[in-house]
Amino acid sequence: MNHFSFHDDELYCESVPLARIAAREGTPLYVYSRATLERHFKAFDDAFAAVRHLTCYSVKANSNIAVLRLFGRLGSGVDVVSGGEIMRALKAGIAPEKIVYSGVGKTRAEIERALESGILMFNVESAQELELISRAASEKGARARIALRVNPDVDPQTHPYISTGLKKNKFGVSIDDAFEVYERAAAMPAIEVAGIDCHIGSQITSVTPFVDALSRIKAFVQRLRALGIAVRYVDLGGGLGITYNREEPPAPDQYAAAVISELGDLDCTLILEPGRCLVGNAGCMVTRVLYTKQTELKEFVIVDAAMNDLIRPSLYDAHHTLTAVRQQHGPVVRADIVGPICESGDFLAHDREMNRPSQGDLLAVMSAGAYGFSMASNYNSRLRAAEVLVDGSEYHVIRRRETFDDLVRCEMIPGCLG
Ligand SMILES: Cc1ncc(COP(=O)(O)O)c(C=O)c1O
Repeated sequence: MNHFSFHDDELYCESVPLARIAAREGTPLYVYSRATLERHFKAFDDAFAAVRHLTCYSVKANSNIAVLRLFGRLGSGVDVVSGGEIMRALKAGIAPEKIVYSGVGKTRAEIERALESGILMFNVESAQELELISRAASEKGARARIALRVNPDVDPQTHPYISTGLKKNKFGVSIDDAFEVYERAAAMPAIEVAGIDCHIGSQITSVTPFVDALSRIKAFVQRLRALGIAVRYVDLGGGLGITYNREEPPAPDQYAAAVISELGDLDCTLILEPGRCLVGNAGCMVTRVLYTKQTELKEFVIVDAAMNDLIRPSLYDAHHTLTAVRQQHGPVVRADIVGPICESGDFLAHDREMNRPSQGDLLAVMSAGAYGFSMASNYNSRLRAAEVLVDGSEYHVIRRRETFDDLVRCEMIPGCLG
């Protein structure tokens, strides 16, 4: 359920017509609905009310500090994967004791910063990383809380680029090797073993892979406890899918019921790291048609948004529903919707049937709230889009459109070039 809907052939976000925002703020433009973000968070978090848990929104899905502040005010913690994400979370007012830190390549500087901030725990992804955290913590006279990210070798049945819990993936420590790493961790004075973690992938549309992963984790926790290694937190990662097209992912309460039932009486605090399912359908990207053209083989609609603004179609061949912001009733065409970037891989949709748009029309690319702006770049020296948050009958710019000055802000011409 989201708050994008048509009234009199006009697409609205909550009570604001998208055309009005686009006219004032320009395009391409990301538009998020506050009511949808709040609804999604509450639906997810309430679904786990029966167990001790902490929902840690996964910052990478949509990193805007206004979005982080919104979730933080609802009680959310966060899952971060870089020093930059820690900085964003703290700036947004997220309590450090609600931050979990994942990522296969944490640098020493990032580890030190996380220790200084007093985060809840590091989700450690290799034996070498554990050694480094231990050294950094003992040099600071600190004790680092850790969970080991184990790779349970479960197939999440999703796109290979977003599968993360298979033996062949770079993430975590294989469940076969994890026991030895835990024994080493338990013997390190500057390390406090706090939990166990896994994240098997993203856009998962069935509960089975989650239940399979948790069942392996549970057996592992029992083995650790038998050896006197305390495990207080079980972090199941994120990954719950959303409907982009015809997918039918479990609703949060179905997902929670399956997880809670598998968790049984393990007596742990459950940590969840949802990203996409909180923000994906709470946002769209609005773009304007620049040109249409018919070639011998194809019809093209050239819009002002490109793969630098939304890379999911180019990267994963992902489907996003495209809809005219003012409903059209003209002839139906089958067209490629493409951006201005100099790559044939720059497209938003291939062979999409739609009412033929005209130059200047606005299109909304739906379900763009997750991995949309957060994966945007400046490729082709394009300015990154603005982001706005709609709140009832008003909206707020939560990131201004970049300027040409922003583009070259970090660049320098050395004196030797005159
Ligand atoms: C460690 C970790 N946690 C959580 C997430 C969020 O996943 P999703 O957006 O599918 O919920 C990701 C996504 O890649 C991740 O790598």
